[in-house]
Amino acid sequence: MAAYPISVHPLQSPAGSDIDFGAKIEDQQFATIRDALYRHHVIIFKNQHMLSPKAQYELTRRFDPASDNYGHGKTLDAKRSILHPDLKTIPHQPQVQVIGNGFIPSYEGLENVQLRHPHHRTFHRDHIPDDKDYDFTRFYRWHIDAALYDLYPPLVTTLMAVQVPKGRRQTLLYDDGSDETLDVPLGTTAFVSGERMFDLLSPEDQEFVRSSKIEYAPHPYIWMSPARALSTGLGLHSEGRELPDSELPPIDAKKIMIFPMAWKNPVTGKLALQIHPSAVRRIHCADGKVIDDLTRVRDIVYKLQRPAISPQYVYAHDWEEGDVVLFNNRGVLHSVVGAFKPDEVRLFRQCNLAASEPPQ
Ligand SMILES: [Fe+2]
Repeated sequence: MAAYPISVHPLQSPAGSDIDFGAKIEDQQFATIRDALYRHHVIIFKNQHMLSPKAQYELTRRFDPASDNYGHGKTLDAKRSILHPDLKTIPHQPQVQVIGNGFIPSYEGLENVQLRHPHHRTFHRDHIPDDKDYDFTRFYRWHIDAALYDLYPPLVTTLMAVQVPKGRRQTLLYDDGSDETLDVPLGTTAFVSGERMFDLLSPEDQEFVRSSKIEYAPHPYIWMSPARALSTGLGLHSEGRELPDSELPPIDAKKIMIFPMAWKNPVTGKLALQIHPSAVRRIHCADGKVIDDLTRVRDIVYKLQRPAISPQYVYAHDWEEGDVVLFNNRGVLHSVVGAFKPDEVRLFRQCNLAASEPPQ
């Protein structure tokens, strides 16, 4: 069980001394936070308005002191990356990004910034009609925070709500023929557990997941940029729209990432099904066979993941200003949600660091 946050040890008097005061305080807070993160996956600190970008970075880095670079490295600079429009880097703390919606005159060295909350119409193939846009929404894109090329997936992401427009709720539509819906607060962040995703599988699928590996596309966020997503936000339609290698930046074969499908929790040992569905390219099976057909790869991954995004498994955080949420990026999938009006200003800070070790 978690250690008590602070332990007090009275000083031992040196030989010949008769001092009866003094104590050493041991700070167990970080050990407690880390233990909580790996047991609960999403942990929330309230009223953290004073947390600076530097402190956010330092908290994030304590999980992996050998890491230092932002989780996507410098690839956000690539104008063709689908991530490029959504994040603005804080000049004095480049591992911390500003995300949100609306016009921000000035914040942490960023001036006159226009933020744009990702809207499903920019990524999904089929859209909610415009006249229903403020009442209904979708999961924008289920994902792990990870570059998936050259850099290892971050252990943890920290999200801080600086400014939150309150009041509205929306109905999230799955629009996949299931009739499933979810009532959500405006601009929620949705989380599902990768461990639950694994536990819901049949014994045969669990064995397949335990023994198979996923290969990710090189430069995945550029590669997928012309492709369009399913209405559940859980992966892409297979329509042959992905960019060919010849239209990508140079590819170094050594930087292509092949990871296990199931990642082990470092505290509990439980397995989580952790696949970034939009970036998958191939499946490497236990017997050495490689499934190369992209449509088939996506269909297999979708069938494994879809059960665990049903409404009863989704935690939709109701953001309040000052909330700092830490999530186990190697144990959950998450998604942006919501359709904002232009004058609904939302300001968040996000930090994660490319990990020093690959997932196991
Ligand atoms: Fe994310």
